[in-house]
Formats: sequence, structure tokens, C-alpha cells
Amino acid sequence: MAKLKTSIVIFGASGDLAQRKLIPALFTQFCKRRLPKDFEIVGFARTDWDHKAFRKTMHDALKTYSADVLTEKLWEKFEPHLHYIQGDLTVDKDFATLNSFLGELETEKGGNRLYYLSIAPRFFEVTVEALGKQDMARATPDSGWRRLVIEKPFGTDLASAQSLNKAVHNVFEEHQIYRIDHYLGKETAQNILFFRFANIMFEPVWNRNYIDHVQISVTESVDVGHRAGYYDDAGVLRDMFQNHLLQLLALTAMEPPASFEADAIRNEKVKTFMAVRPVTEETAFTDTVRAQYRTYRDAEGVAKESQTATYAALKLYVDNWRWQDVPFYLRSGKALKEKVSEIVIYFRSPPHIMFPIAEGEEIAPNVLHIRIQPDEGIHLRFEVKVPDTPANTRSVDMEFHYDDDFGEDALPDAYERLILDAINGDASLFTRSDGIEASWRIIDPIIEAWSSKKAPPLHYYEEDSWGPYAAEELLADDGRVWLIDGDEA
Ligand code: BG6
Repeated sequence: MAKLKTSIVIFGASGDLAQRKLIPALFTQFCKRRLPKDFEIVGFARTDWDHKAFRKTMHDALKTYSADVLTEKLWEKFEPHLHYIQGDLTVDKDFATLNSFLGELETEKGGNRLYYLSIAPRFFEVTVEALGKQDMARATPDSGWRRLVIEKPFGTDLASAQSLNKAVHNVFEEHQIYRIDHYLGKETAQNILFFRFANIMFEPVWNRNYIDHVQISVTESVDVGHRAGYYDDAGVLRDMFQNHLLQLLALTAMEPPASFEADAIRNEKVKTFMAVRPVTEETAFTDTVRAQYRTYRDAEGVAKESQTATYAALKLYVDNWRWQDVPFYLRSGKALKEKVSEIVIYFRSPPHIMFPIAEGEEIAPNVLHIRIQPDEGIHLRFEVKVPDTPANTRSVDMEFHYDDDFGEDALPDAYERLILDAINGDASLFTRSDGIEASWRIIDPIIEAWSSKKAPPLHYYEEDSWGPYAAEELLADDGRVWLIDGDEA
């Protein structure tokens, strides 16, 4: 049987994400000949455009944001696949128009459809409902598949995530749903599983017997910028922790899945989330730090008395055999000194030091840095004897840099991978409904503790710093320091 046409429908096609990420990702995959042979891209938004205006705007967007991937010759071949339907997400008739337009593009046999919700979260439910009403979600073996890609944030707490899951499940089955966390599309995040499970050396020591603690830092130098309106409601826990940081934690802490199948991987992640010890009102004081950068309240759209945290540091525990009592320190914030995402595995010291080192001196423990971005790579710090000394030791680094081994442009944008996986029906890098809910179960109690009358204090930090002093203390109280790439930060 001839292959059916695949249509990629982008709801919110006039928005930022479509221009900065989705169209460039689709164009790049087209250039790499990875899109289905027979495909169409249909933009849907309120903006008053026709096909021509849509094509021109997307061409301009590529020039602005992704000039490096734009080849005019290939664009000429790509452009005729772009279409545009002007419509309102709250008007059923507009979905009917879209449906019949898609029908015209497809053959009478039908076609595959990927619906991409690149829209404000308050429109998720109404859009899914409208797709249901027009019978646009039902797939039959002959008519082709139907899939739904949903951008973050998926809910604002456990209850809203559950209710969104319910609304989406009224129309789509779980296997049709692809919930995006773009961190999972990053090569360096995917590589964590390969590093752990495609090598024999690390897994035997990847546990409480050899690991002292783990640090996960996702620091950002940008401030909230023009997203202040959204951000002031969300805050750093919803914006970064519930999704990106917890996903990094899961990849670091999960048990080895039995296969590379989407559900085998996602089962292990959910088990890990379920083992995370919930923060209580009491431990919110000892194990969490919330802070705001000093000029945050000056931003347009931020409440004058805003208590929203733009920075958080957490100490979490994963209560299972592998990780009992090993602290996982997580931190993330805006307006910090540098943009760095890194996982640090800090090993224990050797049980006995036989070398005659001077009193008060110590042999530094081994440290593994998994750098997610920038300067992507992996560093392993270990001890060597300093030449021409009787027994002095020094730390050195064994380093892997993607740039060196794979060339400068080897790392694709996360969206390239994610959108292609959704088209190909591979859900491994997408979050399942129980995974979303399990991650909210970790974050909800912290949000609750932070908004209660007995909340821990809101600290303040200078822009361009590494965050509040209280976050240093969180580790100092345990005799530890934050590390980034081997330096104290
Ligand atoms: C998004 C957050 O999910 O991730 C943003 O909403 C944040 O606030 C961004 O800036 C960070 O992504 P990246 O890929 O630049 O680390």
C-alpha cells in the first residue's frame, strides 16, 4: 500500500516558538531528507495571513534565527509544502475549515496528522475538545494516525495536570499524546543513559556505596525579560524544576530499563519520581531555598510585592536501595552569572589513605561532570602523583568535548529530534501522563510550603551573581560546596 501523506498542523503558527524552533527544525530535517516523502505543514493562528504571507514570514524567521541552516535552493522546494489557515481556537467552525482543508490535501484514503499545540496553555483544553468535536482525533488503520504534541507547561500543579490529562484523554488515547520537555531532546541529556548503560565502568559505582552526593545546576544568565507576565505566576519551580531539573534527576538516578522502548524507559523514570521523599513544611526550612533577583519587581508585568522565586535550591532524597541518604542538590535561577547546565557526581573518598600526606591535607575525591550545555561534554576528575615528589597528589581532568570528537555543529537543536520522533511515533523522549503527575507530586508540597504563612524566607540576590548566600549555606551546612566545572561557584 502506498504511504499516506503526513500533515503537520501547527496551532499557534504565528507565535515565537513556531518561528524560532519549529519551522527551523522541520526545514533542517527536510534538508537532511528525514521528513516523510509526502508531507505538508499547515499553520493555524488568528493572524490575518494567507499562504503567501505565512511562507514569507517563515522565510524571514529562518533568516533571522537560523541563517546557518537556510539554503535558498532547498527553501524553494520546502516552501510549497507550507499552508496557512486563519482561525480562532475557540471557534468550532474554524476547526471544520481546517479539517476540510486537510481533507483536500490528503487523498481519499486519508492521511497521517500531527497536531502541534504551540499555544498558550489556557487554550490546550478547548483546542483538544474542538479536535474531538470535529472528529479529527480518531485514527483508523486505513485513515492514518493522529498524534498530539503538547508544549509545556502541562498544568500548574497536580490537580490541574490531572484535569488536563483527563480532558486530553477524552479525545486522544495516551499512545497518541506527546508531551514535550525540550531538555529531553538535547543530545547531552540523551547521552546520560548511553554513558551509564553503554559502558561497564560506571554503573557498578553508581550508587550510595560510592557516591557522596549529586548536584544538578541549571543556571541562566537571562532575566525574565518580556515573559514577566507568565513568569510571575509560574516562578522557577514550575518553569524549570517540575520539568527540566526533575527529568535530569530521573536520567541520573533511574534504574537501568530492560529495553530502549519508550515505556520501559518511562516506567523507570516514574519509579524514580515516586521514590523522591516529599518535602514537608518543616524540611522546606532546612532543605529548600527560595530567592528573587533584586531588580525582578521592576520588570513590567511583575506585581510590586511579588513573592515569586526566580531562583531555587533544593536538597532532595531518593528513597530506595540505590540512593538512600545520598543528597541530590538541585538549583536553577534567572539573571545569574552564567548559563550552565551541569550534573555533578561527587564520589566518596577512598576508605583508607596509605600515602604519607601532610596533616590537614586531603586527597580530593573523584568528581564526574556531565555538561549539558554549553561546552558540552564530560569531565572526570581524578588524582595523580605529582612527578618528582615523594607522595604529593594533584587532581587532573580526563575530558570529552563534543566539539573535538564530532565537530563544531554536531549537536542539533532539541526540537529537530523531538518533532521527528513524534512524526515517527517514538515516544521515548516524551513524558507520559503518570510521569507528569508524579513530578507534580514532588513539586506541589514545595509550592504549598512556600506559599503558606509559615513559609521559609524569600532571599534576594544580585544579578550576575551565583545566587543567594542561603544556597551556599544549604551545602555548607553539610560540609559541601556547589561545583561548576571543577570551580567553586
Ligand atoms: C524553558 C523555560 O522551558 O526553558 C525558560 O520556560 C528557560 O524560562 C528555558 O529559559 C531554558 O531552556 P534552555 O534550552 O535555553 O536551557
